[in-house]
Amino acid sequence: MRAQELRNKYLEFFREKNHAIIPSAPLVPANDPTTLFIIAGMHPLVPYLLGEKHPAGRRLANVQKCIRTIDIDEVGDDTHVTFLEMLGNWSLGDPASPDGVGQGGYFKKEAIEWSFEFLTGKKWLNLDARRLAVSVFAGDEDAPRDQEAAAIWRALGVADARIAYLPKADNWWGPAGQTGPCGPSTEMFYWIDAGTPAPANFQKTSKDPRWVEIWNDVFMEYNRRTNPPQADGAGQARRGEPEFVFEPLKQKNVDTGMGLDRMLAVLNGQRSVYDTELFKPMFDVLALSQEVMSNQEVKYARVIVDHLRASVFIAADGVEPSNKDRGYVLRRLLRRSIVYARLLGLKPHWLPALVGKVIQIYDSAYPELVENSKKIFETLALEEEKFVSTLGRGLKEFEKKTKQGTITGQTAFDLYQTYGFPLELTQELAQSAGQKIAREQFERQFKKHQELSRTASAGVFKGGLADHTQEVIRLHTATHLMNAALRKVLGEHVWQKGSNITQERTRFDFTHGQKMTEEEKKRVEDLVNGWIHGDYQVKQEILPLARARELGALGVFGEKYADAVSVYTIFNPKTDEVISREFCGGPHVPHTGVIGLFKITKEQAISAGVRRIKAVLS
Ligand code: ALA
Repeated sequence: MRAQELRNKYLEFFREKNHAIIPSAPLVPANDPTTLFIIAGMHPLVPYLLGEKHPAGRRLANVQKCIRTIDIDEVGDDTHVTFLEMLGNWSLGDPASPDGVGQGGYFKKEAIEWSFEFLTGKKWLNLDARRLAVSVFAGDEDAPRDQEAAAIWRALGVADARIAYLPKADNWWGPAGQTGPCGPSTEMFYWIDAGTPAPANFQKTSKDPRWVEIWNDVFMEYNRRTNPPQADGAGQARRGEPEFVFEPLKQKNVDTGMGLDRMLAVLNGQRSVYDTELFKPMFDVLALSQEVMSNQEVKYARVIVDHLRASVFIAADGVEPSNKDRGYVLRRLLRRSIVYARLLGLKPHWLPALVGKVIQIYDSAYPELVENSKKIFETLALEEEKFVSTLGRGLKEFEKKTKQGTITGQTAFDLYQTYGFPLELTQELAQSAGQKIAREQFERQFKKHQELSRTASAGVFKGGLADHTQEVIRLHTATHLMNAALRKVLGEHVWQKGSNITQERTRFDFTHGQKMTEEEKKRVEDLVNGWIHGDYQVKQEILPLARARELGALGVFGEKYADAVSVYTIFNPKTDEVISREFCGGPHVPHTGVIGLFKITKEQAISAGVRRIKAVLS
């Protein structure tokens, strides 16, 4: 079966069951600052699941574009993808309260019966009912065991042993954010190994990967909310009480979701979603064949096509790469595909060729790709251009390190942190240089880094960095250089009063009485850029407080320090001249050459005798 036929059949089936067909919402959620992308068909419908009236009535169906980054590390196996089309049908409110708009709602019985009919009906997908199994919610303190769903499946002929009762981790869906509509679900599985009869007992074999999950019916009759209720969704529970509680919703809803790629693979007897007609032409345009590649190469190739497809759809919905939020997701997806393309040695111009192919595959189902194609090409090409130069700098650094000796796990980690090199890339490079990296050492550093980021974001480091992305780290070192330059240009009365660094800019407050002249700003910029250009070294030392003071380390005005302190020094490795020495917990770049071009964007007074500078890197 072709993809378009599957979309059409699904919508036709539910149209026959009196559902209104609604368009896919854009990938960027409207009016929802708490989530970056639409992750499920129900997501744009949250207000209606909570009780608002939907203009098209109580029965809805559609094909919704979704982005799921939660499984990004699984991408490359047989079933995980980042961008997906979700076929879904909904009932808003139970049948007891039809409101005269469209048809009345429905609940478990109709939802399950229709799922079964669509899957196995001759006119529809015509799947073999003997290869079908289901799971239902086992019950816990929040909601009872779903005997009702199980009884409905039994009545349709599903054997008891083919009905597994599973806990919340498997059979509960939602909410899409921290709070909102959710409920127990029943999932349908299909045995994809045509050569082996499906095991009679699903309860015992449900983890066998040949049972592929194909559809999820959720009975959304609960609302997960903070305890006690808080308007901003960020409430704190009283001591000893759960932070969130489940309360019955005003109405009983049905929410279902079927991933198009997966169902297409199942229908066509393909083991992997990457074998379907949606992906095949992408591999072809890259002159890659999954049949002749090693397992690792297959994984790289799948990451490239998966991430690029997602990037095209994200860019089509108006997102541009940046260091924040949605833009950052787009940047990461693109950079990962570019890195893997390098690993596979793809020819130049592979990216526009693949973008063109993605647009072509989806042009009739998603005309917005065609309408925005110019913008998509431009956005993605520009980002590629930018990243390729970072990648080049990282490769130089790698060569320098190999000349100096073996590539350690620490070096691999530094490359990851400063240039965004995934471990695989460094491993691959090391291999061609005849070296092997101690993976454990990298992983230890990586774990430490994750823990540090977590502690920092939990606010344990007062005034410390909550964010250890490369962008923030570079801006952090640039801020030290700026502090030093300000003291050189304006005088030693300059003291740091505070700083705040995001992925886009640094904000720095300091003691100084007058507005800075254009000439002063220019001199500060030139000094900083000169030091960056000189590629000065950055080193960290843990020193007794008295020693740090003796060395003239700068602290934040009025701040108290412990007895042993971390000090970062930036110095000219040729002359040992110290440019900057500050009390600081880091992290910083290892040497200033990787920082980029420094520019002051704003200088203003914030209180008597205190000025504020904002500066960026490009
Ligand atoms: N919202 C449910 C899911 O995404 C249907 O699986």
